[in-house]
Formats: sequence, C-alpha cells, structure tokens
Amino acid sequence: MGYVIAVAGKGGTGKTTVSALIVRLLKEKKCGSILAVDADPNSNLAEALGVTAKETIGSILDRLSANPQEVPPGMGKDSYVEYRVQTAIVEGDGFDLLAMGHPEGAGCYCYVNNVLRNVISKLVKDYDFIVLDNEAGLEHLSRRTTRNADALLIVSDASSVGLKAAQRINQLVKELDIRVKNKFLIVNRSSGGPDKEKVLGTGLEYLGHLPLDGQISEFSLKGAALMDLDDNNACLNALKKIGEKIWHKS
Ligand SMILES: Nc1ncnc2c1ncn2[C@@H]1O[C@H](COP(=O)(O)OP(=O)(O)O)[C@@H](O)[C@H]1O
Ligand SMILES: [Mg+2]
Repeated sequence: MGYVIAVAGKGGTGKTTVSALIVRLLKEKKCGSILAVDADPNSNLAEALGVTAKETIGSILDRLSANPQEVPPGMGKDSYVEYRVQTAIVEGDGFDLLAMGHPEGAGCYCYVNNVLRNVISKLVKDYDFIVLDNEAGLEHLSRRTTRNADALLIVSDASSVGLKAAQRINQLVKELDIRVKNKFLIVNRSSGGPDKEKVLGTGLEYLGHLPLDGQISEFSLKGAALMDLDDNNACLNALKKIGEKIWHKS
C-alpha cells in the first residue's frame, strides 16, 4: 500500500511549495514510486514540479458533459470517468502527476472530489508514495478527500492568526473522524521560528520552520520548477532536516 502524505493549510502558506519539495526529496532519496496529486482547483503544483497536465479531472468531466455519448455502451459513467482519469496521469522525471483542475459547470465540485477520492483509493496500490497538495479551504477536509492519510502536514505562517487556523484544521480532523495516522505542523517563511506557546496551542506535532527563501521567490516569479532549485537551497535543506518524520513509513 502506498504511503499517503496530505498537505493542508490556509491559502498562500506554502502548501504547494512544500508539496513540491517533498516530491523532490522523496525522488532524491529513491524511496520508490511517487504520485503527486494536485487537489487544489486553483492549482500550480504541476508548474512547481515542471510538468504540464494536459488533462485534469475537471477537463475530463467538462468534455464528458458536452459529449455524453463518449461513454462506451455497456460501461457505467463512473467507471469510464475513473478509467479516463487514470489515463490523464502525467509522467514526470521520477514521479507522476494527477491534477484535479476545475470543471466549468457549476456545482460539480462534490463530484470532482468523489472521483478524486475513488481514483486515489485505487492508485494507492500502485505507488509507494502519494503526495496530496490540498486546496486551502477546510471544506476539502470535510469532503474527506484526505480520509485515509498516513501523514497530514499542516503548513502555517508564524502569525497568531495562521497558527489558530492550523489549530482549527486539527480540530476539524478530530471532529470528522478522518483517519490520519500522524499530524504534523511546519511553519513556513519564518526566520526565527514561531512563538512556542502558540505552537503548543495547535495540538500538532511541531517539526520546525522553513526560512523565507530568495531563490524560491525568484523561481515563483519566473514560474520555474522547484525541481531545479540548487541542491544547497536553504529551504530544501531545512525540510530535509526536519521532514524525516513526514515520509518515514511507521
Ligand atoms: N519558504 C518560502 N520562501 C519564499 N517564498 C515562498 C516560500 N514558501 C512559499 N513561498 C511563496 O509564497 C507563495 C505562496 O506559496 P504556495 O506554495 O503557492 O502556497 P499555497 O499552496 O499554500 O497557496 C508562492 O509565491 C511561493 O513561491
Ligand atoms: Mg497551492
């Protein structure tokens, strides 16, 4: 069974950045096959990883709603969608990527999430690691895409508001009875690290902080892939040091 690492947190905290860096570190450690999942409709994990997702779950569903006759006779719509989604997986250098995208049609987010969840529950058998870059809102957790994560990594900034949001996510995970083996907190873009009391208040296992990094800002402006960051990049190396528990199969 694949080991599922789900990355969550408020918008703009660095979920996509940290997800991409995790994929890079897993790849470098040669830990086995990796599937990166962009589960944020306003997504950019593909760009951060330097690949292009030609098709997404959203685009597949859009095309299908315009051409319902595409479903082969005798095949259920759900099975066809799942089959099509599996063919939309992009092969990167040392990892694969599946993007959720966003359907044009109104009100079909629940359906996209269901498809994503069903497909992941099948793909989990085909990969050693699945890294899920989640959307910002807590709704995503409540839709339970993250239902069976081995590690839930919450990314926050060092602010009081940010850490309270991390605490709320932790609370929600408990209330919804989402099965997560380990829950961790990383504080991103921080020079000195956060206030210890506030970190304790989140109830999460705190792994450490990542610095604000000039090269990451520069790559983000250019739209360059984080796979090409220097090997001695400060943020990458900080994650390498503090992140072992995230991907350590326990
Ligand atoms: N440690 C960091 N140093 C510098 N810039 C960062 C760092 N982490 C994230 N960023 C930048 O902050 C912005 C938001 O990060 P992103 O990973 O897209 O957040 P999220 O996925 O949570 O919305 C991006 O422009 C990203 O390049
Ligand atoms: Mg993101």
